Amino acid sequence: MTQDEQKQLVAREALRYIVEDAWLGVGTGSTANYFIDELAKVKSRIKGTVASSAATAERLKAHGIEVEELNNVSDLPVYIDGADEVTAQGAMIKGGGGALTREKIVAAVARKFVCIADASKKVDVLGKFPLPVEVIPMARSYVARELVRLGGFPAWRMGFTTDNGNVILDVTGLSIVDPFTLEDRINGIAGVVTVGLFARRGADVILLGGESGIETLRPRPAG
Ligand code: A5P
Repeated sequence: MTQDEQKQLVAREALRYIVEDAWLGVGTGSTANYFIDELAKVKSRIKGTVASSAATAERLKAHGIEVEELNNVSDLPVYIDGADEVTAQGAMIKGGGGALTREKIVAAVARKFVCIADASKKVDVLGKFPLPVEVIPMARSYVARELVRLGGFPAWRMGFTTDNGNVILDVTGLSIVDPFTLEDRINGIAGVVTVGLFARRGADVILLGGESGIETLRPRPAG
């Protein structure tokens, strides 16, 4: 099975987690795109969606799926999104596609986070994938120096602006053994909008697509 087939497999499986007649949070990236294509087939079952990026909103609308402003949605039972890395405990690196801030906001509102990924995304320790940090443009150099102090090697994602008008630093060289503490540390740097570490609000359910089918992990009891 190819990596894309594994993504498609978990995208299809994720349909089991949608809640009838409710709003659904939808993530960003290639796996989320496969999910959107599957969702289109059953769109009448949900009230509509909240999108985690402009690109996702566009794809949902192209399928005729309603997209609502998050401010108009008070109850979001489920959020479905991919990850760049995920641990069995549900901590993730996200933001490879640059949508980390909106993803984190929608995930915060959702009662359940369902992470969909191919098996290559599962790691024991986060940090091999460069950690994205969304930064207010005028703070870029300062934040980069602070990230060096934390032991990382930040690189400016050149030519990329987030949906919120900010820049991204991709940080390599970190072995993230304590994602909770690092998430708080980086979020505490002035000028940081969001770090792409999702530990405080991690995944409740992880659907991993592998050679032998789907592996389902439930790192949080409620998930
Ligand atoms: C988007 O900003 C990211 O957080 C994606 O969810 C993540 O990069 C996973 O993307 P793929 O499904 O394309 O691997």
